Amino acid sequence: MTLRVHHPPEPDCPRLPAALGAVASTLLIPLAARACGDALFPEVAVGDRHAARLLHALGAEVQPFLNDQPTLYGVLARTQVFRGQAEAFLHDHPRALGISLACGLAHYFQWLDNGRNRWIDADLPEVTALREQLLPSEPRRRNVGFDLSQPGWWQRLDLPGPHARTPLLLICEGVLMYFEPAQVAAVLREIGDNAPPGSLLLFDFICAQAVGQAQWHPSVRHTGAQFRWGPRRSDELATLHPRLQLQAEHRVMQGYGWPFATLDPFFRWCFGVPLYGVAQMRVAP
Ligand SMILES: C[S@@+](CC[C@H](N)C(=O)[O-])C[C@H]1O[C@@H](n2cnc3c(N)ncnc32)[C@H](O)[C@@H]1O
Repeated sequence: MTLRVHHPPEPDCPRLPAALGAVASTLLIPLAARACGDALFPEVAVGDRHAARLLHALGAEVQPFLNDQPTLYGVLARTQVFRGQAEAFLHDHPRALGISLACGLAHYFQWLDNGRNRWIDADLPEVTALREQLLPSEPRRRNVGFDLSQPGWWQRLDLPGPHARTPLLLICEGVLMYFEPAQVAAVLREIGDNAPPGSLLLFDFICAQAVGQAQWHPSVRHTGAQFRWGPRRSDELATLHPRLQLQAEHRVMQGYGWPFATLDPFFRWCFGVPLYGVAQMRVAP
């Protein structure tokens, strides 16, 4: 099955700012997957109610991303992991504040709104401005501009501190692989130093072997972004910060046919890290 999508933008509709940087423009990859991938991969369909409209409004050329079926699958499968873990967390902490760090045009609150919780979607100011036009803030969900690579963002976002009683839900999807190792360490230090006990952090990661190899990635190579960080071994994830405890490492690609089902465990067996995975971390007292 081949997907072809290129909608001309509607008049007066927001466009992707021309000055959007390489990493910011990667937001189109998961957006295209959530907008168009369900029909191809019903077993990991996410039923995003907004993505197709957003893609249509932007009128961006996303055909190269739609031709990259492993990535379409991976985005949908990882969305299911993030969503499933977030739902389980909110079941135990129904009033917890959730935050999507580097949210792009993802909209987790469409699935996680339980009528009582609050949500923050945070990204670079230029992305937030675009987002505010397409997915305006609501009474219990707001769009906030920030820079995840600048230490001090926890206070700037006015997030609850380490003595707060209610834990936080933090989703950090599709971004840390584009940060330098020192920036990743700083992000995790910010979370580890500040998050209330019991908070849940979910982030996806690539393996160290993929660092510097984005020019070979069928989707990312079209954006100009580069992979800059990935753990050398999964054990590394458990040593990132003394308060960040690795609860689980989720595989994402093993459902994508036999080559991945075979290659992924083999790669992990050889190198001690999956090609791509989702880390689930709990913040200790
Ligand atoms: C691949 S997109 C992922 C978007 C979203 N999480 C998703 O999965 O659909 C990467 C996102 O990281 C954001 N980003 C990159 N650098 C950032 C920074 N320094 N601070 C905040 N957001 C950043 C980009 O603007 C972009 O929206």
